[in-house]
Amino acid sequence: MSNSAKLSTHGDDYDYPVLSGSVGPDVIDIRKLYAQTGQFTFDPGFTSTASCESAITYIDGDEGVLLHRGYPIGQLAEHSSFMETSYLLLNGELPDKDQLGDFTRTITRHTMLHEQLATFYRGFRRDAHPMAIMCGVVGALSAFYHDSTDIADPVHRRISSHRLIAKMPTIAAMAYKYSVGQPFVYPDNSLSYTGNFLRMTFGVPAEKYEVNPVVERALDRIFILHADHEQNASTSTVRLAGSSGANPFACIAAGIACLWGPAHGGANEAALNMLHEIGTPDRIPHFIERAKDKNDPFRLMGFGHRVYKNYDPRATVMQQTVREVFAALKVSDPVFEVALQLEEMALNDPYFIEKKLFPNVDFYSGVILSAIGFPTTMFTALFALARTVGWVAQWNEMISDPAQKIGRPRQLYTGHTERNYVPLDKR
Ligand code: SDX
Repeated sequence: MSNSAKLSTHGDDYDYPVLSGSVGPDVIDIRKLYAQTGQFTFDPGFTSTASCESAITYIDGDEGVLLHRGYPIGQLAEHSSFMETSYLLLNGELPDKDQLGDFTRTITRHTMLHEQLATFYRGFRRDAHPMAIMCGVVGALSAFYHDSTDIADPVHRRISSHRLIAKMPTIAAMAYKYSVGQPFVYPDNSLSYTGNFLRMTFGVPAEKYEVNPVVERALDRIFILHADHEQNASTSTVRLAGSSGANPFACIAAGIACLWGPAHGGANEAALNMLHEIGTPDRIPHFIERAKDKNDPFRLMGFGHRVYKNYDPRATVMQQTVREVFAALKVSDPVFEVALQLEEMALNDPYFIEKKLFPNVDFYSGVILSAIGFPTTMFTALFALARTVGWVAQWNEMISDPAQKIGRPRQLYTGHTERNYVPLDKR
C-alpha cells in the first residue's frame, strides 16, 4: 500500500505522507496542506479527523472493540480493579503487587480536601446540579495547590494527577451530601477507593456504615467502564485546554463542563429519565416512532455513538452487571424490563439497523446507579469521577509529546466581506 496520498487542487498535484499506527485506520498527514495549497480541510464535528497520536485507548467501532493499553475492556472489567486500571492508563503497563500497593496508598492519602473548599459548597443553592458544583469546585482546586501547577515539571504533573484522581470521589460525595442537607463525611483510609466513595456518599456520622461488597464491586466495575474512551468530546476539551498551558485543575474542570452535555456524559441521566417517561413496555413503540421522526427532536438517549457502529462493549458488561446486582440485592426495577424491551425492539427496527444505532455505555448505567441509591442528578458526576483518570492520562500524554502545539483550528468564513462603517444618522 502506498505510504502517500495524492491531492490535485487548483491545477497542481500534491503528495501527503500516510502514517500507520499499530492498529486501526492510517492517517493522511496534512500538516503542510495550508502552507502548500492555501486551503483548509473542512470537518465539523471531526468525523474524519485524527487530532493527535495516542497510545492509551483504541476503539474499533465496527467490531465493538475497546482496548486500554491493549487490554480488552471485558477482561479489565472482569479481572481488574479501578485502581489497577487507573495505574495501567497512567503508566502504560499493569502494575505488579508492590506497584499497585504503592499507587493505591498514594491515591488514598490524597482523598482529603482542603477544609476551606467545604465553604465553596455553601455558596450553591441546595438544589444546584452536582455537575455545576463539580465544575466550580474542581476549577477552584488550582487556587489551593500552587505547589504543583508547573506543567513542565513531571513531578508536578504526577502529584496533580494523583490529587485529581483521589479528590474527585470526595468532591462528588460532598455534592450529594450538600444536596440532601446531610453533613459531609470525611474519607476513611481503611476502605478501598470505591468503598470510601460509597461511605462518604451514603454514610452518616450518627452510625457505622458497612460497605456492601456486591455494590462495591459493581460500582468499581462501572468506574472501569467509564475510565477512558479515546478522543471523545470531553477528552478533546481537556487536551485543547491543556495545549494552551492551562493548569491541570482548570483543564479537568473544562472536561467536566463538556461531559455534562446530554449528547455526551449527560446521556446517562437523560436515558433513565427517558425510561421512566416511557414507563411501561406498551408505550415503547410510540417513543421509537418519535425517535425516527425527523421533525421530532426526541432521540433515544443511551443509543447511538459516533464511533461504535456495533454494540458498545461497555453496554454489554453494564447489562450483565445489572443482572448480577439485582440478583445479589434481591431487587428488581420495572424500568430494567422497559430498557430490555426497548433495546430488543429498536435493534429489530429498520431505522436503527440502517443507521447502526446500538445501546451505548449510558443506556443501562442509570438502572444500576439508581438501584444502588444514587439520584439521577448524580449519574454524570459519577461519570466525571471515573473519567478523570482518562482525562489526566491523556493530558499527561499530550504535555509530554514533543510535537505538541497549541490547538488552533481554522474555519470556512461565510460572513460579510469588508465593508465601511455607517454613522448612526445614516442607517
Ligand atoms: C458518550 O465519543 C465518545 O466516546 C463518548 C462516550 C465516552 O465514553 O466518552 O462514549 C460517552 O457520550 C456516549 C453517547 C451518549 N449520548 C447519547 O446516548 C445521546 C443519544 N445519542 C445521539 O445524540 C448520537 O447518537 C450521538 C451524539 C451519540 C452521536 O451522534 P453523531 O455521531 O453525530 O451521529 P448523528 O447525530 O449524525 O446521527 C447519525 C444519524 C442521524 O440521522 P440522519 O440525520 O443521518 O438521518 O442517526 C440518528 C441521527 O438523527 N441518530 C439517532 C440517535 N442517534 C443518532 N436517532 C435516534 N436516536 C438516537 N439516539
